[in-house]
Formats: sequence, structure tokens, C-alpha cells
Amino acid sequence: MLRSKDLLGIRDLTPEEIKLIIDTASGFKDVLKRDIKKVPALRGKTVVNLFFEPSTRTRTSFELAAKRLSTDVINFSVPASSVVKGETLKDTALTIEALGADFVVVRHSSAGVPHFLSRILRASVINAGDGANEHPTQALLDLFTIRAHKKRIKGLIVVIIGDIAHSRVARSNIYALTKMGAKVRLVAPSTLIPLEVERLGVEVYNSVEDGIRGADVVMTLRLQLERQVKGFLPSPEEYFNLYGLTTERLRLAKKDAIVMHPGPMNRGVEIETEVADGPQSVILEQVTNGLAIRMAVLYLLSRRRRTR
Ligand code: CP
Repeated sequence: MLRSKDLLGIRDLTPEEIKLIIDTASGFKDVLKRDIKKVPALRGKTVVNLFFEPSTRTRTSFELAAKRLSTDVINFSVPASSVVKGETLKDTALTIEALGADFVVVRHSSAGVPHFLSRILRASVINAGDGANEHPTQALLDLFTIRAHKKRIKGLIVVIIGDIAHSRVARSNIYALTKMGAKVRLVAPSTLIPLEVERLGVEVYNSVEDGIRGADVVMTLRLQLERQVKGFLPSPEEYFNLYGLTTERLRLAKKDAIVMHPGPMNRGVEIETEVADGPQSVILEQVTNGLAIRMAVLYLLSRRRRTR
């Protein structure tokens, strides 16, 4: 059983809760392989997707996950809403709840927005990405994908390459992987490594060649150009030359290492096309697994709400 009515971040979860979500997703993945991919588990409930930032994977997979669980889904369109007339976030959220939302899935450019909503709403709030803070369902689907390939998380060497400083995916993955006993290595230019990161129990490298050696999992991140407020890098070409994931660099990892990317990818900036589409890539499988993880999160939060 989850302890909270909300999923705000991996930081708040225990290893047992992380395992429960992944095990539950495993059951839903089996449901998704059936002819009839729908279960009545959340019939009569309403999920509202409240996205203030663009999204392809997260928004569509939350929508599909909700539909597979037989809920009603509303995709709140910010540009077509009264937000553009000056309605506050609080009034928007309370209005959505007054219409009967049981779950509010929120993405926002400001860190802490899901936490604010969780305090003012009775509905379950799910963080779909808040600024550079956390993206918990991304980390959960990443762990689910890693476990499916490696049969364990504990003791694996996972290298995360890229813009750690601006990445909510990196932050959530660092919390999740270290809680589950993986050894996490970060590789980035020193301008893209946050100061406090070594307190999180990770190793930091400035060279891809050093960091990737012997890794079981190689995760590369998108350059978050929209969150970089000053020039952290000379150019995307220079970044690719120094930090891009190439076939040659990947050869330094274990032979059976898997390649991950949360998407959207900048091909030729953080990853070479041959690697993104190559035999070690599990990038599209991550997307598929996101559906099962989001079904598991909605289902487990609804059980938590029922027993309150
Ligand atoms: N990984 C991820 O959050 O992708 P979207 O921005 O497309 O949702």
C-alpha cells in the first residue's frame, strides 16, 4: 500500500513502495498483451491531465493508462483555458476538482507546483514533471525497463550522461536507483553537474570514456536548452564531440549493456542515430513500459484513497 494520496516524487517513496509500483506494473503489462486491453478497475473515476508544458510521451500514456483502467479522462488545454485570461493556478485546480476530478496529473515549468496542489486538493495529485525537480513516473518506468532486462537493480552500474543540472529525469532516477541499490555514475561537463550531487551517493565523471567503462546501463539525457539560462556549453556540435553517445564509446560498456533515453531525443547532439536505433537500445520499450507504470500508479493511488 502506498502511504500518500499523491505521487509527488521518488524522494518521498520507500524502496518497498518503488517495488510495489513496479510489481503492479508487471501485472498490467500482461493485461496490455491481451486482446481486450481494458479492465474496469477505476470505472466511474475521472483523471484530469493538466499540462502547462509540452509533452508527447507522458501526457498520451497517462491518457491511455486512464482509459485502459476505464476512467473518464479530460485533457485540459492550457492555451484554450481561462488561464490565458489570468485565472490563477489555485482557482484553475479548484475548478477542476469541483467538476469531480479524482486524479490531477500535472506538469509545470516551476518546481513545487504538484506539492502546492497536493495541499489544496482532495484529489490525488501526480507529478508529471515539475521544473528541474522530479519526474517520478519516468524514473519508475526506467527501473521497470532495467529490471525486465537485467532481472535485478541492486549492484548494477548505471551511467547517466548529459545535462544533469537541469534534468528532473536525472534527479528522480538518482533517487530511485540509489534507493534500490544500483551504483550510479554521472557524466557531464562540470557546468552541468549540480553542486550538491555527490551528497546523493553517486560518482561524478567528466569524461564519457571513464564513466561508461563496464556499465550495465547507459542512460543519456536530452540537453535541456529551454532551462539553460546562460551559456553552459560552447555549441551542440562541441557537446556531441565530447559527450555524445557513439558506437565507439558504447563499446566500453558491458557487451550486454542497454541504452536508454527518456525522450525526446536530439539525434546527433546527445546520441548518435546508429546507437538510438541499434540492437542495445530499449528506448521505445521505455515508452511502452510507461503505460503499465502509469496504470499501476493510478490503480495504487485509488486503493490508497479508498482506505482513507
Ligand atoms: N520523457 C518525457 O517526459 O517525455 P515527454 O516530454 O514527451 O512527456
